[in-house]
Amino acid sequence: MLAGKRILLIVTGGIAAYKTPELVRRLRDQGAQVRCILTKGGAQFVTPLALGAVTGDKVYQDLFDLTDEQEMGHIQLSRDADALLVAPATADVLAKMAAGLADDLATTALLATDKPVLAAPAMNVRMWHHAATQANLATLQGRGVTMIGPDNGDMACGEYGPGRMTDPLDIVQAVANFFSDATLLAGRRAIVTSGPTHEAIDPVRYIANRSSGKQGHAIAEALARLGAEVTLVTGPVALADPAGVTMRPVASARDMLAACRDALPADIVVCAAAVADWRPAEAAPEKMKKGGDGPPALCLTENPDILATLAQAGPRRPALVVGFAAETETVVDHARAKLARKGCDWILANDVSPETGTFGGDANTVHLITATGVESWPRMSKAQVAGRLAERITTHLTNGGGAGGADEAAE
Ligand code: CTP
Repeated sequence: MLAGKRILLIVTGGIAAYKTPELVRRLRDQGAQVRCILTKGGAQFVTPLALGAVTGDKVYQDLFDLTDEQEMGHIQLSRDADALLVAPATADVLAKMAAGLADDLATTALLATDKPVLAAPAMNVRMWHHAATQANLATLQGRGVTMIGPDNGDMACGEYGPGRMTDPLDIVQAVANFFSDATLLAGRRAIVTSGPTHEAIDPVRYIANRSSGKQGHAIAEALARLGAEVTLVTGPVALADPAGVTMRPVASARDMLAACRDALPADIVVCAAAVADWRPAEAAPEKMKKGGDGPPALCLTENPDILATLAQAGPRRPALVVGFAAETETVVDHARAKLARKGCDWILANDVSPETGTFGGDANTVHLITATGVESWPRMSKAQVAGRLAERITTHLTNGGGAGGADEAAE
């Protein structure tokens, strides 16, 4: 299941660290090669000797150990792995990862890596429920970190609830699933649009909207994680580039459409961008000045509809075209009408009224609308929405739903 996979296991300071020799053995049973970083806290619960014995390798502990650095620099440690697994992942290490701190070997390797990161949280139930921990989790999931657990159960501190590290065998299964998932969309090409567009008024001013790009970026990342070859065509956003995708930054709707056309052919299109419907008919060549004629009147003209253009029937039509419907009232009805009007296969409808906090926030409540029905998903993080959509896309395409337009989107 994990033959030849190189796992860098990072053991941090929770009581569950005592289970990590067992975890290493189970990973190795599946054919993985395991190398360990043990933090100072981790070493309170499991000895380097024990981990060294089960990995058959040196256990790395100190960022400033010259011998370590000569044998295997901290950057090399993470580069030489196929994935990093933090188990147990304490509230502290999750906070450090979310903040980008790098004050020991473990956090430095985590910050320096460009490899997938999985984490098996383990902590007291109150620490798990704390708003800070939950915010850190959302941040990390938004960046593509895969969380394994935690499980519910009796904890060493005598309390009951979520916070117990997932059983080593189940962690191994989750790691194996992660690697097998990574090929589910292999050979499929996807285009994702994300963020707002900027429509120039003059060289320094533009029309834009409040889209953060978080949902579109998370979708690009989720599809890439399943092995798709993803081009992310994004308007201006303040987000990190998702791992493993080809970036096509653009400003205006017209640039966005051109970049999408360049990225064709594709099997999957997901239009998550909040494209400006109108642009100034002519951008002023120089900065507009306050003059004697009072405020300028902007003459607007309609932008091309990227989703509708890509959904048009033809030999280059992607097999599955998915749009979003940003609505503030009668969400599902408006979205249904949009599905028909744009000719796409699926629409994810979301309420973007200010009180929902959807624009710019980390969570979303969506309804998946297809030709055959409406499926309302519970409120979840944008990363989870992305993961669920990527799963649905995979099922649809692998069940032979690849050929048609809205009429055949039988989900
Ligand atoms: N969209 C697009 N190009 C546009 C406008 C919208 O690709 N010029 C896409 C969005 O990315 C989204 C879907 O169309 O996937 C719906 O966007 P939305 O803003 O909800 O709808 P509009 O087309 O703007 O329609 P309306 O103004 O009636 O809400």
